[in-house]
Amino acid sequence: MKRFVFLSVVLSSALKGLASLQSNKTELTPEKLEAVITQEGLKRNLFELDSIGQQNNGNRAYGTTGYAASSDYVLSQVKDSKNDDGFFTTWTQTFNHTYEETRNISVTGPDGEDVPVLSLMYNNATPLPGGVTGELAALPVDDVRGSGCFEDQWTSVNVTGKLALVKRGTCAISDKLKLAKTRGALGVILFHNTNSTPNAATLGAENIGLNAPVGLISLQIGESWRSRISANETLTATLLVDSIFEPRSTWNVFVETAEGDENNVIMLGAHLDSVQAGPGINDDGSGVTAQIEIIKALRGFRGIKNKIRFAFWGAEEAGLVGSLFYTSSLTSSEADKIRFYYNYDMIGSIEPVYGIYAGDNPGDKVGAQLLLDYLVAKGKPAYFGSFGTGSDYVGFLELGIPSSGIHTGGGVPADPCYHLVCDTYDNINWGALEVNTKAAARAAAVLALDVSNVPPRNVTSVNPASGRMVRELFQEALWEGVKVEAASAHTCALETKRVV
Ligand SMILES: *[C@@H]1O[C@H](CO)[C@@H](O)[C@H](O)[C@H]1NC(C)=O
Ligand SMILES: *[C@@H]1O[C@H](CO)[C@@H](O)[C@H](O)[C@H]1NC(C)=O
Ligand SMILES: *[C@@H]1O[C@H](CO)[C@@H](O)[C@H](O)[C@H]1NC(C)=O
Ligand SMILES: *[C@@H]1O[C@H](CO)[C@@H](O)[C@H](O)[C@H]1NC(C)=O
Ligand SMILES: *[C@@H]1O[C@H](CO)[C@@H](O)[C@H](O)[C@H]1NC(C)=O
Ligand SMILES: *[C@@H]1O[C@H](CO)[C@@H](O)[C@H](O)[C@H]1NC(C)=O
Ligand SMILES: [Zn+2]
Repeated sequence: MKRFVFLSVVLSSALKGLASLQSNKTELTPEKLEAVITQEGLKRNLFELDSIGQQNNGNRAYGTTGYAASSDYVLSQVKDSKNDDGFFTTWTQTFNHTYEETRNISVTGPDGEDVPVLSLMYNNATPLPGGVTGELAALPVDDVRGSGCFEDQWTSVNVTGKLALVKRGTCAISDKLKLAKTRGALGVILFHNTNSTPNAATLGAENIGLNAPVGLISLQIGESWRSRISANETLTATLLVDSIFEPRSTWNVFVETAEGDENNVIMLGAHLDSVQAGPGINDDGSGVTAQIEIIKALRGFRGIKNKIRFAFWGAEEAGLVGSLFYTSSLTSSEADKIRFYYNYDMIGSIEPVYGIYAGDNPGDKVGAQLLLDYLVAKGKPAYFGSFGTGSDYVGFLELGIPSSGIHTGGGVPADPCYHLVCDTYDNINWGALEVNTKAAARAAAVLALDVSNVPPRNVTSVNPASGRMVRELFQEALWEGVKVEAASAHTCALETKRVV
């Protein structure tokens, strides 16, 4: 009895505490949520993520300490111990993937010179310590069919025992490297297809062992070697690739509002990993800071009718591995409950475009329109663009879940530091990041208050086995490498760019 009284006192004061917390909160409206987002908050997180990159070998790639520190940072921000009133639930989801690291790469040119060279993810090693030395055999360059993309393009040159000189573009690099290997090339010197700084890409874990080793050099050097060869000079070069592969564990991080209907969930996603080449501040620290600030802003509100679930994806740069793991492990009824998915990958490009994803699913436009209307009202040249295969929306589209998102562009001129060491704190257009985060906050709030205008997931879309298809994509991603073209085509771009 006494104990009961004591308990009820404790309980009632606890309830009073909760009630006073709740009463401090404002009723959620899109306008009020948007108003809480500040550039200062967005900057603070990116400053921290940049520092994490600098303190962890220059990157925040999956399977590294930089990723673990990024994950800790997100959790430290959203949990906010001072203010933890059970407003959010957080959890992680662990999966395994083949980690790759190029420990050393070098190209020695025909005149004994050290040539600037970039590795690609899942690059195959050359014999060590000397690498491979051979005559450079120039593959023909065809503006339409590319260089070394098709079997017949390899018949006019004998590359056996030589280093094939191939131009980037038109097909996946791994297509070129597989042909080079089957034709007996020692390796491939791949030269870039634009005048900009060559940027890294993934060859896909599924191609481990099938590709010839590769080094990526500039267009200018590649062209100069080609012209010397066509003037009948015999050029010799050396390629050294020292790379390792091993399975490593990594994880997705989730944060979800405690409040809201669990049968009608609005999801937002941004990938938390960077490429190994740099700290990944626009790609995709920009989406990560946006989500952190929206989460913090939501703390001040009540009246969230539909749950909001934020995903911070792991191993996106290796081929959308984390988001495919998540979507493939959803049951059909769990997938039904996800009413909309917004993808935020690269939303602060220095010379931004304002691309808004919208596909064929009629539900896409409902969420996409919210983003478009806001950005247009703010004077931005926003436009609808189609999905590609370049970011974490792929698994959601496979499940027929209405989806959208913002993408501000990669490569010159939008983001000249795309996948490079210079994707740092200085590589952000703060105005663009702020307006896009506000658009994202607003759209999330609109749908969290009322999602009745969004049609249910199209279970008959894609194919009857869409769930199975995602699962198959993932199984291959996990155990044999990512079969999905995204692996070799990852650009985070709006349009599918099947060229890496
Ligand atoms: C709630 O409001 C009261 C009175 O204005 C204030 O003392 C208290 O710190 C507020 N609590 C929170 C969690 O903001
Ligand atoms: C990852 O690999 C480890 C070690 O092989 C294993 O114990 C674990 O169950 C794997 N995790 C998953 C999610 O498959
Ligand atoms: C990388 O390889 C080059 C060429 O063999 C060698 O000179 C250099 O010392 C190596 N660097 C490292 C860090 O192992
Ligand atoms: C290509 O070159 C290799 C090595 O020089 C030689 O053994 C092979 O016969 C050549 N193949 C053709 C088809 O000429
Ligand atoms: C290169 O050699 C080929 C065949 O030996 C010859 O036809 C061509 O004229 C030569 N080109 C130059 C630029 O010397
Ligand atoms: C669902 O997807 C199928 C196949 O793409 C399409 O034919 C159908 O019109 C879609 N239904 C709705 C309601 O969007
Ligand atoms: Zn990205």
